[in-house]
Amino acid sequence: MNPNEAPIGVLDSGVGGISVLRELVRIMPRENFIYYGDSLHAPYGTKPHDEVHQYVLQIVDYLLSYPVKEIVIACNTATSVSVRTLRSQFPDLPLVGIEPAIKPAAIQRPGSRVLVMATPMTLAEEKFARNVSRFADQATFIPLPCPGLMELIEGGHLDDALVRDYLTKLLGPYLTEPVGAIVLGCTHYPFVRRLVADIAGAGVLIVDGSAGTAREARRRLAEAGLLYEGTRIGQVTFYNSTESEELLALSKRLLDMPY
Ligand code: DGL
Repeated sequence: MNPNEAPIGVLDSGVGGISVLRELVRIMPRENFIYYGDSLHAPYGTKPHDEVHQYVLQIVDYLLSYPVKEIVIACNTATSVSVRTLRSQFPDLPLVGIEPAIKPAAIQRPGSRVLVMATPMTLAEEKFARNVSRFADQATFIPLPCPGLMELIEGGHLDDALVRDYLTKLLGPYLTEPVGAIVLGCTHYPFVRRLVADIAGAGVLIVDGSAGTAREARRRLAEAGLLYEGTRIGQVTFYNSTESEELLALSKRLLDMPY
């Protein structure tokens, strides 16, 4: 097979990375994608570092067996744990990760308080501390661990009383003083973006890294001369480590969900 025709592999601990996948499909509609959601081992964000790294390695091996021409780690947690090691292990593979959108928040809401919603692991990793320290003089970043939120989203709770209640309790205490932006620092959270915006109120910027990550994935492919330039319509193939029909159905639903 011509390497340009090979699929792009996208991975996450579950269905969250579909928020990145939909951006990838939007800007590269002729590419084929293989999406791997590891819901069997989810959540990653509350597990030990080394355990998460082993799961990520297994998925990367699986995707490389196709073979894929690029891998997008559509998971902030997996990126903070594994991207550096993977880059040294696979120096010739275009590999793109995602991190909380600290910079866009700092640039668009300078001087404000910025809440960073993410998994406990993402917020505890050194990568996050480094990212925040680069912009710490431009805004006040408040880390907001959200244990349990990805499980609600994996369970299909996108706009019901359960998830609204969770978010109201989580955000409420921080909204007593003005907030300039909320960073959705886990790829599951864009699926509850409207609810977050609704609870936060008018004027609060809600940002995530999915569009920037998709652009970077396209740029890396172009740089490697690996973009598909034919006329086919791209396909998305979903895999989930649970092999659950419900999760596959939810995956398809999320891919088509309006923003
Ligand atoms: N979607 C993942 C992220 O972007 C993590 C969710 C989890 O497995 O805890 O961080």
